[in-house]
Amino acid sequence: MRILSIFGTRPEAIKMAPLVKKLETEPGVESVVCVTGQHKTMLTQELELFQIAPRFDLAVMTANQSLNCLEGRMVTGLDAVLEEAKPDYVLVHGDTTTAMAGALASFHRRIPVGHVEAGLRTGNIYEPWPEEMNRRFIDVVSDMMFAPTASSRANLEAESLGGRIILTGNTVIDALHLVCARLDQDDNLRAKIDAKLPPLRDDLPIVLVTGHRRENFNDGFGNAGGKGISAALVELAQSGKMQIVYPVHLNPNVRGPIFAALGKEKHVFLTEPLEYPVFVRLMQRSAIILTDSGGVQEEAPALGKPVLVMRDVTERPEAIAAGTVKLVGTDRATITSAVLELALDEEKRQTFTRLVNPYGDGLASERIIAAVTGKNYLPFASALPTGYRHPAKNSARHTFIARSQDVMADRRLSTSQPGLETTPADASAHSCLPGTKTPSLCCAIAQGGGCPRPTE
Ligand code: UD1
Ligand code: UDP
Repeated sequence: MRILSIFGTRPEAIKMAPLVKKLETEPGVESVVCVTGQHKTMLTQELELFQIAPRFDLAVMTANQSLNCLEGRMVTGLDAVLEEAKPDYVLVHGDTTTAMAGALASFHRRIPVGHVEAGLRTGNIYEPWPEEMNRRFIDVVSDMMFAPTASSRANLEAESLGGRIILTGNTVIDALHLVCARLDQDDNLRAKIDAKLPPLRDDLPIVLVTGHRRENFNDGFGNAGGKGISAALVELAQSGKMQIVYPVHLNPNVRGPIFAALGKEKHVFLTEPLEYPVFVRLMQRSAIILTDSGGVQEEAPALGKPVLVMRDVTERPEAIAAGTVKLVGTDRATITSAVLELALDEEKRQTFTRLVNPYGDGLASERIIAAVTGKNYLPFASALPTGYRHPAKNSARHTFIARSQDVMADRRLSTSQPGLETTPADASAHSCLPGTKTPSLCCAIAQGGGCPRPTE
């Protein structure tokens, strides 16, 4: 079976890497990778880290590319790739223009598509824009939809689509496990990575910031008359109560305003986009994470870090229910007070280390491959919090309402709960590889290693 994986941006590369590495060694599978090159530097970083050698690279990135131009060039380029590679199955990830183009080009050629990270919804096609529409379209044409959580599965079920829905967990947790295991085991690597970070003080909490959403261009990243994201960061930096590290996305609509507003602030470190292990280490060392990113919302809860999300709505409601994520929008005053509240209360921050990560157990890639190749797999234990309501049926824009006692009740749902998909062994019982003997981070990742199955 020839499986073509198509991706093109940094987060897709991180989240597809564990899957691609496992496909490379899967008996009976010929794995082919096509990158669109929607991102350049930020994609190359990840391909090198995970040692992925794409057979096709469409190299479509141009400075400040428009969505229509990007999509058109990708669909045309992918058509030629599909003609040459003749895959039996195509895998795309998430909601980027690359994923949308990959699904459309495959649909036009009647090649079945598997959608990794399917079913995320905000219920508003302009938030995030254009991602919400991309993922809806991809699910409509998908043969298999790999839902990372019970709530994304419920979204898909509510839409009565034609494809098969499989609950897998999110592959980002597979990638995170690989990197964390290596960081945990290797003191030298940790020290080397720490040396790559800005000169951080020990006596001030670290606030890690990322931001790149198109909805936040202009007013959000710009100073917006002192009311937007930049204004909040200036105020927080000038409070002297924290140090801010912001690896700035390469999009010129982000870089320009952020460097203009924050470039000279004391207590603010603006960096280039960081290699994934360096970024993970920085998350580990941070007190608070302030972001509009999708992937970071999933990773930070797994690291026990509080996350404040600079959006009005999120397609990842699980961590809000679990209490590890809070929406703070893009208004200066709201961001500032939410960050200060946490920065000044270490005890409160500590409570986050004890909260549950709802996004995965490190075995999502295995489940996806098993489903595509028709093998058995261990179901992912994910309970749907009882406060959940499907976004499309909500009148309010915020899509998730869960009371803390509901969430606590859900956490108590065990493997014996009827009607729930569960792992045979307690998912928390498998360790994240502190004992693994892998020579280097690249090697561990390149070999597609991961957490052992709970039964092993
Ligand atoms: C894209 C995705 C978004 C995802 C994000 C991850 C779409 C519509 N958006 O947004 O869902 O969250 O990637 O980061 O698919 N650039 C570089 N070098 C790079 C990467 C980007 O210079 O390595 C600059 C270029 O000027 C490029 C611009 O950033 O034109 C925007 O890139 P693009 O992929 O269109 O959008 P993102 O904002 O990165
Ligand atoms: N990330 C990284 N280096 C950075 C910033 C982010 O490796 O400097 C990783 C992060 O850990 C996550 C992914 O990139 O896995 C998120 O990418 P991004 O925020 O660009 O996209 P989104 O997830 O919002 O689509």
